[in-house]
Amino acid sequence: MSDSRNRIALKAAEVEKTFSFGTQKLKVLGNVNLEIEESSSLSIRGDSGCGKTTLLNLLARLETGNHGKVFWGDYEMDTTTKPTSYEIALRANFIGVVYQAYYLIPELNVLENILLASKLGKQDLRVSKDRAFELLNKMGVYDKRSQIPQKLSGGERQRVAIARALINTPKLVLADEPTGNLDEHTAGDVMELLLESCRENHSSLILVTHNPKFADSTDRTSFLKDGSILNL
Ligand SMILES: Nc1ncnc2c1ncn2[C@@H]1O[C@H](COP(=O)(O)OP(=O)(O)O)[C@@H](O)[C@H]1O
Ligand SMILES: [Mg+2]
Repeated sequence: MSDSRNRIALKAAEVEKTFSFGTQKLKVLGNVNLEIEESSSLSIRGDSGCGKTTLLNLLARLETGNHGKVFWGDYEMDTTTKPTSYEIALRANFIGVVYQAYYLIPELNVLENILLASKLGKQDLRVSKDRAFELLNKMGVYDKRSQIPQKLSGGERQRVAIARALINTPKLVLADEPTGNLDEHTAGDVMELLLESCRENHSSLILVTHNPKFADSTDRTSFLKDGSILNL
């Protein structure tokens, strides 16, 4: 058995987040604790507006919190501080993100969208190109590599977004309702590709989804409720 099995890919400890606007305050995350091992998957379900996207943003350090720590592997960070330039560079290779609305860059073609992520991670272009072709093949969109995203269906766009998330072989993929915009059949295909490609890349996956069937296909399932994570 490999000793990488029990290593932690990401940990959150006592994470809190309150949004303030004017005199109003909205406490979204009360006390979030979670841990995900390397090469494993965790789903998070929860009512609309309960803070799932906010939590993923905090884990990726795209947003600051009011209290708590986030660890990428052994690297410890205080969520109340803005990420340093070192952490921004680290994130480019450590975390891949897949969004519900794809967020591909409309002016760039499929291959360029993927290679931009490798450029941000300061990866070798030749190696990244080979890997991009491999991922495009795996995702069934190799023939679309020179198209702009607008010419692609929703399912194809999301498969490109998955390839982009995986291009730097991240330790962790954060997927925020990745099939929320897709029809049921396409959603099933995309989810299968996401789970399988994360497994093949030994990337851990945190999957936010409303679909109970997809949630149950991860190694562990959890709910975000009243600002805390409940493990099932
Ligand atoms: N930047 C923000 N400023 C103020 N309130 C916000 C902001 N972002 C999110 N919220 C609020 O925080 C709550 C959680 O939002 P979100 O994390 O998007 O929920 P979910 O992804 O679970 O649907 C919602 O009530 C939302 O309106
Ligand atoms: Mg959300």
